[in-house]
Amino acid sequence: MEFDEAVKGRRSIRKYRNRCVEDSVIEEILDLARYAPSSMNGQPWTFMVVRDDETKRKLAEIKNKYCPVEKQEYRADFLQSAPAIVVVCVDKEKSYDREIENGVLAAASLLLAAHTRGLGSVYMSAYRKDEPAVAEEIRQTLGIPSHTDPISILPLGYPDETPEPKNMESIHRLVCYECNGKR
Ligand SMILES: Cc1cc2nc3c(=O)[nH]c(=O)nc-3n(C[C@H](O)[C@H](O)[C@H](O)COP(=O)(O)O)c2cc1C
Repeated sequence: MEFDEAVKGRRSIRKYRNRCVEDSVIEEILDLARYAPSSMNGQPWTFMVVRDDETKRKLAEIKNKYCPVEKQEYRADFLQSAPAIVVVCVDKEKSYDREIENGVLAAASLLLAAHTRGLGSVYMSAYRKDEPAVAEEIRQTLGIPSHTDPISILPLGYPDETPEPKNMESIHRLVCYECNGKR
């Protein structure tokens, strides 16, 4: 798949077919994700692949428990029906104070790589700045050591939905060629 097509065609998928996602496909995707840039080339990632139903249930429960009222439409129950979930984690000792950027950049590559293999996913945060309990409960659920932060939760499955086209801001509204208003 061409890069442009991958970028434009990727969408958030929250409904998955009852079809196994092979380890070999997940490994291909993770192999691409690890080429992401990282601060000082620290490559601080651990990609935790979750297959266990009880662990998926706990992740959904934690996300729902800490879901802000205004985001209730984004409940996380669907995580339980994903054939696999990748939790992107970063080692703080190799992150050079850039845990979130390091994690999110790898997650972005992972989402695109998954799409090129026909898989659907959706970006979900594994932490809340104002609520350290989120990351802590995820850490305990997955047995992640204290020097490692969970950053992103990315379910993987073959899509069983086709999202409506999304509203896109015009490129002209998003681009500014000079900071002082001059072109
Ligand atoms: C930082 C971030 C957090 C998100 N959190 C959630 C979430 O908790 N639950 C969810 O279902 N989707 C979540 N999303 C997915 C967005 O809702 C989705 O990317 C957005 O609506 C655009 O749709 P698209 O991904 O299909 O282009 C999140 C996306 C980002 C970038």
